[in-house]
Amino acid sequence: MYPGATAHEILSAWRGRMADAPEEVFSEAMFWSVPAVPNFPEETHGEQIVTIASDESPDEVIGENEDPELVAAAHLERPFLSHPLSNCHAMGTEEEATAARYFRHAVERHWSPYEIDLSTDQNVLEGIRRRSFTQLRATVAMFGAGEERVTEDLIPLAATVKEPADQRFVASHVYEEAKHAAFFDRYWKEVINPVEAARGLERTDPTADRWFTEPYETVFDRTTDAMDRLRTDDRPETRARAYCHYHLTIEGVFGQTGFYAIEKTFGSNTDGPSLPGLVEGFGAVRQDEGRHVGYGMERLTNLLETGAVEETLVRQTVSDLAAPVDAVVGAMGWKHFPGPDGSDLVSFVTDQRENRLEQLFGDESVSRSGRRSGRVQ
Ligand SMILES: [Fe+2]
Ligand SMILES: [Fe+2]
Repeated sequence: MYPGATAHEILSAWRGRMADAPEEVFSEAMFWSVPAVPNFPEETHGEQIVTIASDESPDEVIGENEDPELVAAAHLERPFLSHPLSNCHAMGTEEEATAARYFRHAVERHWSPYEIDLSTDQNVLEGIRRRSFTQLRATVAMFGAGEERVTEDLIPLAATVKEPADQRFVASHVYEEAKHAAFFDRYWKEVINPVEAARGLERTDPTADRWFTEPYETVFDRTTDAMDRLRTDDRPETRARAYCHYHLTIEGVFGQTGFYAIEKTFGSNTDGPSLPGLVEGFGAVRQDEGRHVGYGMERLTNLLETGAVEETLVRQTVSDLAAPVDAVVGAMGWKHFPGPDGSDLVSFVTDQRENRLEQLFGDESVSRSGRRSGRVQ
């Protein structure tokens, strides 16, 4: 919360910060008057304020601004933090509010996998080396199958959530995974198969065994097991393992590395061949994934902060998945195109994994924790 008089500076700084924020960081600005209720210090009643609701701490939101008055104003937020705003608004718990916000975001950012223009990709793929084309087919097949798997794997979670806001969000989550699967399926039928025909290659199916390696199957089989356990053994530890497999690792580490590999190899800003349809589809999928990862990470944070699960359980689960994930990622770099090679991608995936753990256990988690009761949604 900041004094209304500083709104111009606060909103400018906030806007600049959010332009570079990761996909899963969501934020809203709101003008408000402090209500005359006991939850707030009496001297603040009636004060005009601007509020930034964010997954980041106030220091991060405006931290690069050197104006001392503004920095001091940011810390006005602190006295309010011990007063749960949700009591004034009857808006339920923070978890419900996050789920509601993510659901609304999902509705407002709707996109259609059937409206992405794929017409350019076919010509480009007819002109690349056969080996590169095979590698691209394997990548699209792995993403497509992965989306099919995660659609199904979410069902046990959908069956366990009880709050209406959670149910709405998880319903949108399942729908979006199905939509992602539909995009990759369409890409196969409308781009891959015609290119195979043009090149005189046998028509292939995206579910054929040839596209999948043992480490890939290991990652998804373990995730299916972790999610299925929710059906019969819904305890905090089971949920934590489910979030660690599905949201943190598959979506927050593995998937993000795949997006990075595709965009850095086939994006419009690279020196290699551009695949605008594929990259646009990946961009839309990535935006949805930001919400999914954000949801799972918040649930995991909550289980840790409340002491329901131990840090070692999370670290061990993530660590156990590292070897098969890295083995898949290491084979995803393209040898003949500019962009990250296999070792670059292994470095990237390692950094992603460390960043996720840092989100949960680093210094930032302390400030997140300090803000939890005070966030306005
Ligand atoms: Fe997905
Ligand atoms: Fe997802």
